[in-house]
Amino acid sequence: MASKMTTKCALITGITGQDGSYLAEWLLGKGYRVHGIVRRVALEDPDHRLSRLKEIRGRLVLHAASLESYASIHRVVHEVQPDECYHLAAQSFVSYSFDDEFSTLNTNINGTHFLLSALKTLVPQCRFYFAGSSEMFGMAETVPQNEDTRFHPRSSYGISKVAGFDLTRNYREAYGMFACNGILFNHESPRRGFEFVSRKITAGVARILAGKSTELRLGNLEALRDWGHAREYVAAMWLMLQQAQPDDYVIATGQCHSVREFVELAFSHVGLDYTKFVTRDPELYRPAEVNLLQGDAGKARRLLGWTHRVELAGLIREMVDNDCRALGII
Ligand code: NAP
Ligand code: GDD
Repeated sequence: MASKMTTKCALITGITGQDGSYLAEWLLGKGYRVHGIVRRVALEDPDHRLSRLKEIRGRLVLHAASLESYASIHRVVHEVQPDECYHLAAQSFVSYSFDDEFSTLNTNINGTHFLLSALKTLVPQCRFYFAGSSEMFGMAETVPQNEDTRFHPRSSYGISKVAGFDLTRNYREAYGMFACNGILFNHESPRRGFEFVSRKITAGVARILAGKSTELRLGNLEALRDWGHAREYVAAMWLMLQQAQPDDYVIATGQCHSVREFVELAFSHVGLDYTKFVTRDPELYRPAEVNLLQGDAGKARRLLGWTHRVELAGLIREMVDNDCRALGII
């Protein structure tokens, strides 16, 4: 019987992050040889920096390189000769992009440019995925947002992603590369970084329940987001690169909820009343906020056959339970 396993080789940047770890697992499951680009320090401190990869570490080939260095990217692409490249590495925290616009723009724009340029020179047939973001819509003119909605980014992070999106489309149009943009709305999981609001809330709930903390300081509770599960979103990245033609796709649940609703659900899951613990901290407000993101993933549903399954309440339960387990309280 013919095997469905592939013999293809994939290169992932940002493999140590939330999405990179799920994507690596997904691709290994399909039989890919998976290579990842990591920062040199990650190889020196694997317990901490490769923690999301600990189950699969022995099945990956990791290469030290820097998004800031064209030479290092060129070297890795030359060594790996990938069939597919998933470019996930970025300074991904919107809030931090207000503190350091320069490094956000440098890393995110140059990193994408260096990678596209190296692929075009060395393996132009390689299929390329760019991790675009709903932050590109920013102060969106319409609700819900789809592939035709105009971009109006509200942070240097959003601006860097618009530049990456345009670079990717331009390499497709100018050089005929199979280059796709995913426009992914917020997606979370027990592997989410602690700086993002979802994990900050679920970890905060666990600490309060464990008696290690008595309050949770948050910023804007009225912002509305379209939250899905990261494990499902990486499958959409892969699907984009399996199509006959390269294209751009919105990936979202289509439902939006406020940060306040997220908080309420997380606390009530463990029987707590959030109003007794949550404090509003004006320092955590952003200079320019994105008030409402709600995606229309109709194109992905029609052309990729992709749809979300995990709803917000289930996602929150999984995250809170995971954080409680980590503290030994369930
Ligand atoms: P994440 O957990 O913050 O991971 C970011 C990854 O980028 C990490 O592996 C990090 O490596 C790497 N990285 C950052 N700066 C780097 C640099 N200068 N050189 C090399 N690597 C660097 O992010 P994520 O949630 O997985 O998101 C993956 C991608 O999707 C990002 O581009 C993000 O902007 C985009 N995105 C995410 C969402 C979402 O809701 N999660 C939505 C839309 C788009 P270290 O471990 O060494 O820091
Ligand atoms: N991080 C954080 N911390 N956000 C807070 C807090 C807080 O204490 N209090 C309120 N918020 C609000 C933010 O103002 C924002 O409106 C919302 O919670 C979500 O913030 P984050 O979880 O930091 O995510 P994000 O929406 O800014 O960005 C994420 O999603 C993008 C896709 O839309 C990141 O994953 C980006 O990389 C991604 O592109």
